[in-house]
Parts: sequence; C-alpha cells; structure tokens
Amino acid sequence: MLVQAVDAFEIERSARNRTKRKQRGGWHYALSGEWARAIWHHRTMLAYRHAFHAGNHADVLKHATLVAVLRYLNLKDKAWRLVDTHAAAGGYELDSAYTQKHAEYRQGIERLWLAPDLPPMLADYLDQVRAFNPGEALTLYPGSPRIARGLMRPQDQLRLFELHPTDHALLLENFAGDRQVIVQHIDGFSGMKSQWPPPSRRGVVLIDPSYEIKTDYAAVVAGVREALTRFAEGTVMVWYPHLDLRESAQLPKRLEEIAQSLSKKGWLHARLTLAEPNERGFGLLGSGMFIINPPYTLAGQLREVLPVLVRLMGQFRGAGHTLAVSETG
Ligand SMILES: C[S@@+](CC[C@H](N)C(=O)[O-])C[C@H]1O[C@@H](n2cnc3c(N)ncnc32)[C@H](O)[C@@H]1O
Repeated sequence: MLVQAVDAFEIERSARNRTKRKQRGGWHYALSGEWARAIWHHRTMLAYRHAFHAGNHADVLKHATLVAVLRYLNLKDKAWRLVDTHAAAGGYELDSAYTQKHAEYRQGIERLWLAPDLPPMLADYLDQVRAFNPGEALTLYPGSPRIARGLMRPQDQLRLFELHPTDHALLLENFAGDRQVIVQHIDGFSGMKSQWPPPSRRGVVLIDPSYEIKTDYAAVVAGVREALTRFAEGTVMVWYPHLDLRESAQLPKRLEEIAQSLSKKGWLHARLTLAEPNERGFGLLGSGMFIINPPYTLAGQLREVLPVLVRLMGQFRGAGHTLAVSETG
C-alpha cells in the first residue's frame, strides 16, 4: 500500500480539523495561511521517499506501460525525448531498510518475477527489470529513469526533475557523466516547459507525483494542459493513485476533457483495483494510467495485460480493471 501517501492524507485531514477547533475556540495560528501552506508542502514533500514503494503494483502498471510506449517510439529511427517530471532516485535496492519496511514489491514485481507465459508487453517490461539485476534473484528495481535509460538509443534524450534533495543527489550520481541525460533539482511542472516540445517533435512527458499534497491534482491538470498546448501531438502519461477520495475520482474526468479538446490522437485510461480499503476506510486500492496521444497499439496490449495483472497482483476477490479508449484513439 502507498502507506506514506495515505498517512499524509490522514494527517492533513486531522490538521484541518484541529485548525477548525482552534478557530472555534477564538484563537488562530500565528503563521499566515501562505507560510503554513509552504511549510506543510515542504515537510510533506520531504517525507515521501519512493524507496518505500519501489516495485509495488503501481510501479508495475506505470513502468510496463512506459516500456510499451518507448518500445513503440523505437520503431522509427527519429530521436525522442522523455521528460520525467517527478523522477525520484532512479533505482532501488529491494533489501534496503526503506523498501523492506512495507515490502510492497512482494505484491507487485515479485508476483511477476517467476510467473510463466506472460503476454509480450509484460515479458518485455520484465526483461528491463531483469537487465537491471545482476543475477537470477530479484534484488534491485529500476525506477522510471532507469527503465527509460535501458530503452534509449544514442539519439534519444532523457530530462529528469526531482525536488527531494536526497533523491536528487542519488539521481545525479546514477547518471553522472551521461551526456544523454540532464538531471535538475527544480519543480518538474515548471521545468517541463523548457524541455517541451522536443526539437525532434517526438516525445513523452511522464507525470508521476506522489499526490501526498492535494494540490498535486490541480498541478497535474494544469501541467497536462500546458504540455498539450505546447505540443498537441506529444504523448502525455499521467499516473494517479486509485483512492477513495474525490480528487482521485475526478482527475481522469478532468484529463479526459482536456485531451478531448487539445490532443491530436485521443486518449486511453487504464485502471486497476487490487486491494480493499483498510479498517479505517483508507488505503491505496490500485492505480490508473491516463495516456494522451497513446501509440495506437497500446489499447490492444493493455486489453491483454490488465486481466493478467489482476490475476497476479489482486489482493481480494473483487479485484478488477477498467480500460476506456477515446473514439479518436
Ligand atoms: C512517485 S515518485 C516518482 C517515481 C518515479 N517516477 C518512478 O516511477 O520511478 C514522486 C517523486 O516526485 C518528487 N517530487 C514531489 N514534488 C515534486 C515536484 N514539484 N517536482 C519534482 N519532483 C517532485 C518526490 O520527491 C518523489 O521522489
């Protein structure tokens, strides 16, 4: 489960209730709203480390889809650029204290590791993960930057943004001396603007925030609008958590409206429901990928792959998937 994210939502909710109680009691926070928000944003951002979640079911859906999209771009020689607005550390040791804390990869990549007869799209994704591991055992998991790097040709480019100081430092180290990769320690939503559209007019933006801060939902909507306004043919991939939360349910609808009016090649929305809410009614139920201007082959691949992911990673009898594709897709 995305325990960090869920905890953050609960903390935010209780902080809001505390504020209301204090205001009813006639006294207020000394900090202005702007400052309080900035400090909250900073602390929450620092609390999230992707290492806690590396290789979980959400990574599996996101990274399998990313491999399929980049594989399609590789069918032509013309260069592409991937802009990863929220890159995290790049790669993870599965036996680290962070990853072992909740061992989320056990319900994710580990379920695929030894599974026989995977459909070609999943077998290709698994090959990328295997290539990252030195031996037969699953000990390392590549994040989106490393997955992308594995599929790049000499003409392709990778642009990475990461705000967390520790993960940014790890990312820098990961790609030190790599002339095809630029790593920046700035906000990915604004950083994306200088990298989009790519000079070759072929490329992908991957938008993958942690959504611990509710403003991430609005930032994603604005970022997608910006990306499509700059380059209506570019592929935009958005990952989002499937939570029992209004913002999570509304996000795909808002993305659909934008894609409907701005995209050239339609959209696709895949969602997995894999877990039940916890005893407090919270928890990561699954996740979704909303892809604008997807490769025309992707819907067919996902139709084959999603039921397999449900079978392998589903945690309760009601596990399932949905796949919606625009008429122009
Ligand atoms: C879900 S993780 C990304 C995982 C990565 N894309 C992958 O698939 O391996 C989200 C990351 O975004 C970072 N982050 C949060 N807000 C950011 C922002 N505004 N700009 C860039 N990075 C940000 C967090 O520190 C975190 O490492």
